[in-house]
Amino acid sequence: MKLIIGSKEDVSAQAAQRYVELLGKKPDAVLGLATGSTPLALYAELARLCAEGKVSFARAKSYNLDEYIGLDGSHDQSYRYFMDHNLFQHIDIKPENTHVPSGFVKDDEEAARYDAEIDAAGGIDLQLLGIGNNGHIGFNEPLTPFTSVTHIVKLTDSTREANKRFFSSLDEVPTHAVTMGIHTVMKARSIMLLAFGEGKAEIIKKTVQGRPDTAVPASLLQLHEDVTLYLDEAAASKLS
Ligand code: GLP
Repeated sequence: MKLIIGSKEDVSAQAAQRYVELLGKKPDAVLGLATGSTPLALYAELARLCAEGKVSFARAKSYNLDEYIGLDGSHDQSYRYFMDHNLFQHIDIKPENTHVPSGFVKDDEEAARYDAEIDAAGGIDLQLLGIGNNGHIGFNEPLTPFTSVTHIVKLTDSTREANKRFFSSLDEVPTHAVTMGIHTVMKARSIMLLAFGEGKAEIIKKTVQGRPDTAVPASLLQLHEDVTLYLDEAAASKLS
């Protein structure tokens, strides 16, 4: 794993340059995108670079990691809504080229079609990840199998509790989500994981210095050959 450590603004700007380089070489690249508070500075930087003509997403395709079960794109806590408002409306990507898993899939067989769509698009060139406090990537909670493809998950109490801040009450936080699996993520040619703040320090230590183990899904990224972590000083503070 490669580590890039600096201020949140600096590392987010460096992460944004990865898109400038990739799309410069391959304008029709396939991007794996993420939600959460972590990528917001990166998304703002991409919007700025796009407005200045330094990057174009006009031929790119995007596939988001996950979505809550039962929320459609008009719900302000759906991940489709998040992506439209925080990125897609501010860059030149074609709406029809943006994909977020459907929150209305009935079963895992239907969910897994998302992997087939990604494969048909040529596979993900650059996958962006955040990290949950328990090491989840996307919504792949601890003990998700290494071989998992896009599937429906029951969210852990700790994840629902962590995400409660965005809803009016815990009861409103969906109990299930659909997420790319670990295998889906590991198939990406290149992976970037962003983490900021002291609250992520312990899980970043386990991710980087722990033994790769499904108990900490992000630690499995050690087994991928092209992963870069973009951390602020606080998130990196427990690394030795
Ligand atoms: C959610 C998302 C993850 C994200 C995590 C961390 O659970 N499914 O993809 O990485 O939150 O969120 P934040 O970036 O707000 O800390």
